[in-house]
Amino acid sequence: MNTPNPNESPKTDAPVVPTSGDSVQDLHRAHMAQMNDPVMLTVDGVEDNPDGGDDAGAGGSDSVQGMHGMLMREQAEPRDGFEPVPFWVAIVCGALLMWGGFYLGTNTADFRADVFDEPNPVATPVLAAAPEPDPQTVDELKRIGEAKYAVTCAACHQPDGTGKPAEGFPPLAGSNWLVGDKATPARLARIVLHGLKGPVEVVTPAGTRTYGTQAMPAHAGQLKDYEIAGVLTYVRNTWSNKADPDKAKPAVTTAVVRAARAKDGKRDSVTADELLKLAPTYADPPAPKK
Ligand code: HEC
Repeated sequence: MNTPNPNESPKTDAPVVPTSGDSVQDLHRAHMAQMNDPVMLTVDGVEDNPDGGDDAGAGGSDSVQGMHGMLMREQAEPRDGFEPVPFWVAIVCGALLMWGGFYLGTNTADFRADVFDEPNPVATPVLAAAPEPDPQTVDELKRIGEAKYAVTCAACHQPDGTGKPAEGFPPLAGSNWLVGDKATPARLARIVLHGLKGPVEVVTPAGTRTYGTQAMPAHAGQLKDYEIAGVLTYVRNTWSNKADPDKAKPAVTTAVVRAARAKDGKRDSVTADELLKLAPTYADPPAPKK
């Protein structure tokens, strides 16, 4: 064997691929060192070939494949397994179960099937349909009317029926519309049902005066037929007023008011002129049968 040339590098250290600085491995290693990658730097020192040589392409640590293989080994493979349930998940599940049980316990009405049924319409009206009072005599009507007058009419016409003429509220005591020439059941029913507006001449023993600065509101929605009959019979037979001499035969009856309401329907206030066109003998249509 020839004496080895000292200028030649020892054969065992020489990689197959020249490492004169521009081989792929050298470039790669230099690049990795530049990036200061600890893995790569470590890899750089590993010699998996005892004789110090790297066999390019055979999986040595310096080969691209070798580095790649080591790199892949650095990271543990993710995998499925039986891991303990996180504590907070157990708490949330437990709380939901408890809430569900509580909700069922309080809102199921013992799981009865009839809780969503409509109330039976036939079974209930026994109490609701108490018969409406049907006052017949003057005294019965007056008793109902007295209470209604106090809360419905007295504010304007005053408890003693004198009204407030200066403010446009006419008197009822002695009024010709209640006890005089203009007084008819049909007219009176309409004044209270629909209200009264416009000029109206009111004659009382104290004098004559024309009103019209105020309007009287309608009471059709507020008072029932028998209540209007009651309040009118009351004002026609109180104070000095004595319009119904026969106590058994009041002139303004529930039937009169009901007939007026049925004939007129919903309408505006009446005027005195309209009322005067209703003759004193004006006959309302017969009351509808109950
Ligand atoms: C908000 C005030 C007010 C209320 C409440 C009121 N009235 Fe009148 N009433 C008047 C006014 C105002 C007139 C005159 C309207 C006009 O000038 O056109 C009048 C006129 C009358 C008339 C005809 C004129 C007369 O003096 O006789 C009668 C009858 C009457 N009201 C009865 C009643 C009865 C019964 C009630 C209760 C159910 C009642 N009023 C509630 C204000 C009211």
